[in-house]
Amino acid sequence: MNNFVVVARTHEIQPGTGRTVAVDGIWIALFNVDGRFYAIDNSCPHAGGPLGEGKLCEGVVECPWHGWKFDVASGERVGNPNFQVTRCEVRVQGDDIQIAIPPSLREPA
Ligand code: FES
Repeated sequence: MNNFVVVARTHEIQPGTGRTVAVDGIWIALFNVDGRFYAIDNSCPHAGGPLGEGKLCEGVVECPWHGWKFDVASGERVGNPNFQVTRCEVRVQGDDIQIAIPPSLREPA
C-alpha cells in the first residue's frame, strides 16, 4: 500500500509551473499542467540536473542543465523513451497535493 504525503497546496503551484519538494530526503519535481498535478524524480537521468527547476511547456519539462525534455505525465524523454524518470502517484484531497514515493526511489542507488 502506498503512503501518500502532503507536499504542497494546490494554490501554491500555478498552472504551467513546477517546484521541487522533498519527501523523507528524496527530491521530487512537482508540476501543474492545466490544473492536473504530476510528480517525477527530480534527478535528470542524463547527469542529475534538477528537473523541478526546469521550464514547463505543454506538459513537457526541459532540464535546466543540458535541455533534455521529459513528458511529466509519462516520465519519458521526448523523442527517446529509452530514457525515463520515475513517476510518483499524485492525488489531490481538498487543497492538499499528496504524492506517494515508489519503492524504487527509496532504494539506495
Ligand atoms: S542533466 Fe539533464 S540534460 Fe543534462
